[in-house]
Amino acid sequence: MGNYELLNFSDPEALADAAAGDWLRQIANANRQGAPHRVALCGGRIARRFFAAAAARAKAEVVSLKQVHFFWSDERCVPPTDPESNYALAREYLLQPLAIPADHIHRLRGEVAPEVAAAEGEAEIRHYAGLNAGQQPILELVFLGLGEDGHVASLFPDEPEAASASQGVFRPVLAPKPPPRRITLGYPAVASAREVWVLASGPGKAEALGKSLAPGEQTPLARVLRLREHTKIFTDIQSG
Ligand code: 6PG
Repeated sequence: MGNYELLNFSDPEALADAAAGDWLRQIANANRQGAPHRVALCGGRIARRFFAAAAARAKAEVVSLKQVHFFWSDERCVPPTDPESNYALAREYLLQPLAIPADHIHRLRGEVAPEVAAAEGEAEIRHYAGLNAGQQPILELVFLGLGEDGHVASLFPDEPEAASASQGVFRPVLAPKPPPRRITLGYPAVASAREVWVLASGPGKAEALGKSLAPGEQTPLARVLRLREHTKIFTDIQSG
């Protein structure tokens, strides 16, 4: 397919540390240039390892993340203190350890009605990010995890085309992965980011990754790859 870069690692820790190193280099460059860095974080087990690695590196390499604006690729419709909350995960392993200013944290309010939270999230991300011709926000970087069914963010397979084709920046979904009520970046917003990095880690995902990289496949990751000129995939998934 050619429009992705696949970086293979031996285990989740090596993947997380490499992705953290690449990310901090990007942020350090932005800091030097006084340029904005607006990022959407994902959830999941690899995200926890990634956040911990990024926080450790930021402290060791003295890279400030205080200028970064934090958004989310998806969120579960739960309170921010719920262990299932993607915000709670980032807060524990990244935002609190690095003392990120509250006005740089733009969480999706999982505790309110999904439609309300999605609309709020859309208004907030539009306020902070530039917009492309399609009125989609241009984030510097969107992180995505990969699920065993090829889902990314909370974009799952087999959803009605009307939903997949939505131009909404964020939209509520009912997901097969618990908890079911979620809010996700839509495909157009993921496609509009300057960079998308997929952290594809964990057992049982070889088929999902292999299918997603094959031409003509329909997994959500395959759809993202088709929508973009370039996507970076960090993986510890052994093919075959
Ligand atoms: C979520 C995530 C989801 C996750 C993948 C991978 O809210 O659940 O955003 O897209 O990143 O399911 O999760 P693991 O890394 O735990 O396999």
